[in-house]
Amino acid sequence: MAEPDQPSTARMIDHWLGGAHHHPVDVAAAGAFEGAYGPCAEIFRSLRDFLGRAVRAIADAGVDNFLVFGAGVPTCGNVHEVAPDATVLYTDVDPVTVRLGQRLLADSDRAGYGYGDATDIGTVDPAQLHRFVPGWGRRPVGVVFLGLAAFLDDDTLARTLDELYEAVAPGSFLAIDFDGEELAAYPEALAMMGPAFRMRAPARFGPLLGRWQPTADGIVPVAQWRPAGVPEPVPDAFYGALAVKPAD
Ligand SMILES: C[S@@+](CC[C@H](N)C(=O)[O-])C[C@H]1O[C@@H](n2cnc3c(N)ncnc32)[C@H](O)[C@@H]1O
Repeated sequence: MAEPDQPSTARMIDHWLGGAHHHPVDVAAAGAFEGAYGPCAEIFRSLRDFLGRAVRAIADAGVDNFLVFGAGVPTCGNVHEVAPDATVLYTDVDPVTVRLGQRLLADSDRAGYGYGDATDIGTVDPAQLHRFVPGWGRRPVGVVFLGLAAFLDDDTLARTLDELYEAVAPGSFLAIDFDGEELAAYPEALAMMGPAFRMRAPARFGPLLGRWQPTADGIVPVAQWRPAGVPEPVPDAFYGALAVKPAD
């Protein structure tokens, strides 16, 4: 892969997770952000652990296919690694990330990677959907929507989640996170997130889920969502929820 001249959040996260698919430009951007905020590895590990627990919960409910939006780098405990019996379609809007994902998954017969704009399900390649999310709209699916809500305004997020709800079969799940107000105390770091970045209080996020029904776990800091033991002592940077479209 050619050396990218711009950092990507997906590869910065790979760096923080101890992965192998990032470049000096990503490490430099990650270092600059940590200079303005503080260490990030534990926070992103905690978010990735939430992904693992939520995906396993979905698989334990009998769902065997996943559609992932804003997927980033498909390694380091990503969906197909924690749900080994499922088929998984990863999507992202960033062409460099899509190409990296396709290269990493080239030998997989149950996980694929393609272009997909989360705000427009119609942009997902129907052939890939057919292959990796068989029975789309007719069989329950696990939709993974992590690291994305922070970059969508309320109206766009609410509309997107409602269109997803309409598209999926009853019995489907949505694993989702959003950024709390942690960065409000770090204006320099906040500025680095760009003008589209949105922090939200949990009470403000619930209504945006619309018809999706959060499980009894509620909307909580990701480390506190069904923790495997004592929750990791990390700042409440990310909140998460698992929500369902109830079976008929
Ligand atoms: C912060 S990263 C999160 C990556 C991964 N989900 C994780 O949690 O580690 C956000 C990703 O979303 C992608 N993205 C941004 N806007 C998007 C959109 N409208 N649809 C799909 N992906 C989008 C970016 O290219 C980036 O790879």
